[in-house]
Amino acid sequence: MKIAVVGTGYVGLVTGTCFAEVGIEVTCIDIDQKKIDNLHKGILPIYEPGLEEMVSRNVSAGRLSFSTNLAEAIKECDVAFIAVGTPPGEDGSADLKYVLAVARGIGESMNNYCVVVTKSTVPVGTAAKVRKELEDALAKRGANIEFDVASNPEFLKEGAAIDDFLKPDRIVVGISSERAEEVMSRLYKPFLLNGHPIIFMDIPSAEMTKYAANSMLATKISFMNDIANLCEIMGADVNMVRKGIGSDARIGTKFIYPGIGYGGSCFPKDVKALIKTASENGYEMQVLKAVESVNDAQKEVLFDKVSKHFGGELSGKKFAVWGLSFKPKTDDMREAPSLVIIEKLLAEGGTVSAYDPVAMEEAKHSLGDRITYAKDPFEALVDADALLVVTEWPEFRSPSFEVVGKLLKDKVIFDGRNIYDPAELRELGFAYHCIGVKTAHKEPA
Ligand code: UDX
Repeated sequence: MKIAVVGTGYVGLVTGTCFAEVGIEVTCIDIDQKKIDNLHKGILPIYEPGLEEMVSRNVSAGRLSFSTNLAEAIKECDVAFIAVGTPPGEDGSADLKYVLAVARGIGESMNNYCVVVTKSTVPVGTAAKVRKELEDALAKRGANIEFDVASNPEFLKEGAAIDDFLKPDRIVVGISSERAEEVMSRLYKPFLLNGHPIIFMDIPSAEMTKYAANSMLATKISFMNDIANLCEIMGADVNMVRKGIGSDARIGTKFIYPGIGYGGSCFPKDVKALIKTASENGYEMQVLKAVESVNDAQKEVLFDKVSKHFGGELSGKKFAVWGLSFKPKTDDMREAPSLVIIEKLLAEGGTVSAYDPVAMEEAKHSLGDRITYAKDPFEALVDADALLVVTEWPEFRSPSFEVVGKLLKDKVIFDGRNIYDPAELRELGFAYHCIGVKTAHKEPA
């Protein structure tokens, strides 16, 4: 089989590379010449564990190539994936101009039957618009070529995207013809070996599935954050409550970790977009509106704890921040809680010395030289009044607390991810603040 993947962002690059990995001939297309030039040199536009090696392996094997020439790639291809960005417009709805422009481009150059698949997260009804663009482009050429559209949402987690793609919980495909179902079954066959199901459905249901999945996960997180905040007030420990409820199989143990709010490229955008789609169609998503506002408030919770601890006097204080990306194993800073926390610390006259294993370059786009960037976690601590743990990178999990205590001016830790043991830190003389646990602590001498 021969496929084209249009868009070499996160989704497109992982998709194209993983299909090449199982032996399919893939061309990844982008209009950005610089991106393509870099990919030819083995330089990837994103950080994803294992991806660089996989790209280079498949390029060497001749199965994966990169180009700006959509027309050339579309000729004789069986499936074309549209995986370009859908940035949120002012009002929160997904902007489809790039998706539709690619659809038009495909219609202008296809010369055999092809399944055109939306892979980007797109609102319900988008596949119908894609079909219309294709029809119009073909009609303009006077070409009579058969095609199908399909919707194949991705469920990749940043940092674990390759594994998620190669061993998916499920593959969801919206189709409207048997021919498209046959082509998509053939394409995904190598990924179904371990009993992972492919679920075929109508196109609007597939489009909705993606939003419903992400919205449900965001709901679990906001719900737990709400419970965590109440636990603090009532003197309960959310870690115990989490274990207590998670062992009920109907609730499950995943995605019930409280923290400082969800970020990233998907949850915030998709929750907003679904609220918007509903309201445009005369329906109010009451639960999701609450999910969003709980999340906005949660991003400020760690700052509020800092402010309370220091009696509102943050001016001239130095704060060490461990972790900048919205979650570990990625350099993605989109909607990262760190940005909200750091901006608030700076606005109060504090200074920040931050360390992140991979996201510091990315963070500079929004924070620039308004903070300092440490070369390792310990350098960030020197003479700081407190440590804030913002992203739960594995390397922050068990530092030498003796060293941490010596480098900090005061033994104060604000842990936005609950990665330390409150009892242990109390024993070591730290003032330790985490999420959802009323932390009685010894004030340092
Ligand atoms: C998510 C979905 O998981 C994925 O299926 C979809 O395709 C894209 O969106 P991603 O954004 O990469 O993936 O990150 P994920 O690991 O799901 O985490 C999202 C956010 O939720 C992070 O900010 C994380 O810190 C937060 N989170 C997650 C919690 O606060 N608590 C949890 O229990 C789990």
